[in-house]
Amino acid sequence: MSQYGDYQNELYLAALGGVLPQHPFTYDDLERGGLEVLPPELRSYVAGGSGSEATQRANAEAFGRWALVPRMLRGAAERDLSVELFGKRLASPLMLAPVGVVGLCTPDGHGDIATAQVAAQTGVPMIASTLMNDPLEDVVPHSGDTPAWFQLYTPKSRELAASLVSRAERAGYDAIVVTLDTWVPGWRPRDLASGNFPQLRGKVLANYTSDPVFQEMTGPDPDLGTVVLTWVSTFGNPLSWDDLPWLRSLTTLPIVLKGICHPDDARRALDAGVDGIYCSNHGGRQADGGGSALGWLPGVVDAVAGQAPVIFDSGVRTGADVVKAIALGATAVAVGRPYVYGLALGGVPGAVHVLRSLQAEADLVMAVDGYPTLADLDRDALVWQGANR
Ligand code: GLV
Repeated sequence: MSQYGDYQNELYLAALGGVLPQHPFTYDDLERGGLEVLPPELRSYVAGGSGSEATQRANAEAFGRWALVPRMLRGAAERDLSVELFGKRLASPLMLAPVGVVGLCTPDGHGDIATAQVAAQTGVPMIASTLMNDPLEDVVPHSGDTPAWFQLYTPKSRELAASLVSRAERAGYDAIVVTLDTWVPGWRPRDLASGNFPQLRGKVLANYTSDPVFQEMTGPDPDLGTVVLTWVSTFGNPLSWDDLPWLRSLTTLPIVLKGICHPDDARRALDAGVDGIYCSNHGGRQADGGGSALGWLPGVVDAVAGQAPVIFDSGVRTGADVVKAIALGATAVAVGRPYVYGLALGGVPGAVHVLRSLQAEADLVMAVDGYPTLADLDRDALVWQGANR
C-alpha cells in the first residue's frame, strides 16, 4: 500500500544531504511562480475566471467552511487512498482535470505529452482536452499504464463529434468526458482586456487539424484563417437532453457528463444511460455568480445515490481539500491550475511534485485525523463551520 506521506521523509532527508526542494509547496507560491514564467498571452487565460471572478474565489474558499473532525486512537498507521473507477483501480483519488491550453504551458509546446508523462509517473489519470497542441493519438501512449480519459467539446458537426470519439476509443482512452458548460465561452474580462483567446490564433487545434472530417470541412491545405473560421463555425454544440441517445450511441466507452451541478440533472443523466457524473463549474471560468462547485456537490452525490462515480473539480488547492471533497461524496477529485503551474515552473518534475504533494498532504491529513481509508471519509467526518446555512 502506498504511503504517500513518505514524500515528506524524502524531502527532509534530501535537505539533510544539502539538496533543498526546487518547487513550491503552497498554491499561492505555485501560482506566483507559474505566472512569472508563462508567456503573457497565457497568463490571463490560465489564471482568469468569468465576470467578477466571484465564483472562482468561492470555489476555493468553500473548502474553508467545512472542518474535518479529528478522531484519535483509530490506528490509522496505514492508509489506503485507492479507488476503483470503471473497473480500474487507481492508487489515489486524484485526476488531472482537462485544461485546453496545457499544451502551450511548457516551453516546447508539448504540454499535453508532458501531462501524460506526469500521469505515467504518478498514476494520476489525465483527462485530455479536445483542445490539444498534439493530436490525441500522439499523447496517450505517454501515459503508460495509467488510465487516460478524453474530454469532448461536442462540435456542431455530428460527423466530427463521432470521428473524435472513435479516434479516442481507437487510441486507447478509457472514458469519454462530455463537457456541457462550455459550448460558448464565458465572459472573461482578463482575456477580453488583452484581446486574447488562443484558439482564435490557431493554437491548440491539433485534434481538429489532424481529423479527416475536419479536413474535409476546411478543404486541402487550408490557411490559418480558414482553419480558425471552420473551428469557430463548429466548436460549440448547445446540446439538449434529446442529444444524449446519439452521444451514447457513439461509443461503448463509459461516458461521463461534466458540468452537472443540479440533482435533477444528475438523475436525468443517469436515466439517459451515462456512466459517470462530473460535478464542476469549470473552475469558475464559465458563469460567474453561481457560488462554489463544492456547494453543489452534496446534492449531486445524493441524487446519484451510489449508482455511478461522481468526479469533482473546481477550487481544489490542497490535499485537505481533496479529503473534504471525498467526505462530501466525490469518488475522485480533479485538479487543474495547480498542475498547470507546476508544469510551467518545472516541466514534468514540477507537476509530479505538485501531485505528490497533494497525495502526501491528503494521506497525512487522513493519518493525523484518524481516517485510514476513503470509505471512512463520510459526511460525519465533516462539520460545517461557516456562517449559518
Ligand atoms: C477551456 O477549456 C477553457 O476553460 O477555457
